Amino acid sequence: MRRPIRLNRNLLRKLWPRLQRGCPDPRGLLDPGISDGEANEILLRMKIDGVFKTTWSDRFPETTRQLASGGLPPTAVIVDVGASDGSTSLSVMRSVRFARYYVTDRHTEAYACKTWKGTFFCDAHGNPFMFANRLVVIYNETGEASRAQSGVVSRLFAGFDMRKCRDVRKVPLMNRALLPKLNADVRLERYNIFEPWPFEKADLVIAANILNRDYFADSRIAEALRNLRAALKEAGRLAVIENRPAEQSNLFRLEHGRFIEENQVGAGSDVKALVTGLA
Ligand SMILES: C[S@@+](CC[C@H](N)C(=O)[O-])C[C@H]1O[C@@H](n2cnc3c(N)ncnc32)[C@H](O)[C@@H]1O
Repeated sequence: MRRPIRLNRNLLRKLWPRLQRGCPDPRGLLDPGISDGEANEILLRMKIDGVFKTTWSDRFPETTRQLASGGLPPTAVIVDVGASDGSTSLSVMRSVRFARYYVTDRHTEAYACKTWKGTFFCDAHGNPFMFANRLVVIYNETGEASRAQSGVVSRLFAGFDMRKCRDVRKVPLMNRALLPKLNADVRLERYNIFEPWPFEKADLVIAANILNRDYFADSRIAEALRNLRAALKEAGRLAVIENRPAEQSNLFRLEHGRFIEENQVGAGSDVKALVTGLA
C-alpha cells in the first residue's frame, strides 16, 4: 500500500459535507446507530493481514443464477469461504436451495482498543491492523509506502500491545441482516482456508474474491485449494469467482480427486489452471 496514512473522511466532511475523499472512520462500527450502508462503506476499506474485506450484496449475479439453476441437491451443504460480512452469502441464500449454509471468514470480528492516541483495531490474536483518530486513519502496512510514511506507521504500531489496553471492545464485522438468520441451518464460523475444514463435507464450496494472486502466492493458493477439495463430497462443486471489476468465474466438479470445469462466466477465474491442475 503506497499511502497507509489517510485523512479521516469525517474530518473532511465537516468542511465539505459531500466529499468522498479520505478514509471512512472505522470507529463508526462502534456506533450502535450506524446504518448498514455506512457499515459496509467502512468494511469496503478495511484491510486485515494484507486482504481487503471489500464486499457488497449480489456481487456475482450470473454465477449465482448458474448455481441456482442446476446440479446441486435440494439438501445441499454450502460452505462460503472468505465471505467477509456475509452480504454476498445472503444473496446466494436467497436464490440457491440448501439444507445448511456455512458463512465463514478468517476475520468475523475485531477488537477496538482505545488509547490516548486514538483507537487501534486488532484481529482475534491481538495483532493491530488499523488505527484511527479524529484526523487520520492508518493501515498497518508499509510495503510500498514512502520512507516518511513507513517510519510513522512502524513507530505507531510497534509500540502497541492489546493486553496493556484497558478499554477493549469487540466489533462484529458481519452484516446485521445476517445475524437474525443464524440458526442450525445458517451457521457463522471463523475459518482460515489454510487449515483443514473442520465440519461436515460440502456439496458446494464458494470462494469469491479470495483466491487472489495479489493476496497470495500460487503455492499458498494451491494449499488452500487442497483444503477446499478435502472439504467437498465426491462430485461436489467448487465455485471460484473474481470481480475485476466484471464478474468472472468457473464452476468445477470434483471427480476422483480432480476438479473438472463445468461452467464459466466472463473470462473465467484467474486461477482456473491452478484448480484443474491441482495435484
Ligand atoms: C475481498 S473479501 C471477499 C468477500 C466476498 N467473498 C465477496 O466476494 O464479496 C476477502 C475476504 O477473505 C477473508 N480472508 C482473508 N484471508 C483469509 C483466510 N486465510 N481464510 C479465510 N478468509 C480469509 C478476508 O477477511 C475478507 O473478508
